Amino acid sequence: MEFRNRDIISIKDFTKDEILYVLKTAKKLESRPNPSLMKGRVMASLFFEPSTRTRLSFESAMTRLGGQVIGFSEPGNTSLKKGETLWDTIKMAEQYADVIVMRHPVEGAARLAAEASGVPIINGGDGANQHPTQTLLDLYTIQKAKGKIDGLNIGFLGDLKYGRTVHSLSTALTHFNSTLYLISPEALKMPESYTEELDRKKVKYHEESDLMKVIGKLDVLYATRIQKERFPDPMEYKKYAGVYKLDKSMLPHFKPTLKIMHPLPRVDEIHPELDNTPHALYFEQAGNGITVRQALLALVTGRIK
Ligand code: CP
Repeated sequence: MEFRNRDIISIKDFTKDEILYVLKTAKKLESRPNPSLMKGRVMASLFFEPSTRTRLSFESAMTRLGGQVIGFSEPGNTSLKKGETLWDTIKMAEQYADVIVMRHPVEGAARLAAEASGVPIINGGDGANQHPTQTLLDLYTIQKAKGKIDGLNIGFLGDLKYGRTVHSLSTALTHFNSTLYLISPEALKMPESYTEELDRKKVKYHEESDLMKVIGKLDVLYATRIQKERFPDPMEYKKYAGVYKLDKSMLPHFKPTLKIMHPLPRVDEIHPELDNTPHALYFEQAGNGITVRQALLALVTGRIK
């Protein structure tokens, strides 16, 4: 399967076979680490928006494969401050690196960067739009924890309107035979463009605002933060902050095998008292980011075919 020079912009660009190929490549790299696979290669890490996991796990992934990392996490220290455009910033980074990983607050910014760049662009999140590498690590985590992705009851909880991770994951799950439970306040429902896609692809799904009505059915509960930074009106955010909180009082309602995932950062959606229960999968999920991102870096630079 050919991934060399490919941009990773949206999970919509992936077929099921391509998704499974990335997961298989990650599994191979996890079982047989190769500390010199990216030797002599440079990754530019351009973060125009805050990040902990995506940036650090990409940088760690590249470093652990023997590659080098350049870039910025504070765009205010770059020539953007002097009025340089995104286009020109990318034209510079392509001179200096073999692959560019970027996060940007504007939807479509990664696609624009891919037009400017002669080296592969990997989208680390563009506005409320897409976060494809998070989706691949989410699928990897589900497959690893459950042994499969098909035939599961998967709940999405929280801010389904602005949460880009659930948008990308919903699209990816249209390739698999799982049932989705979309649990959110009415005002933060999954956008119609995504539920229409579920309808078109005949994916079984239920929309619900009361978590307790469906909690006992779930094999995986994917919790999300209410995305404060994307609300046009801060008063509107206040209405929904803290609307769903998972804690130990809910344990009797969980299936014993329920796994709780979260792209993180969490605010108050998951009480830390759940961290040491067998349900908590979110830290392992974040750790899987390294393996899956190693696979993507190696594939798009042609180091693995
Ligand atoms: N999951 C995720 O994207 O986390 P960061 O915002 O910290 O990168």
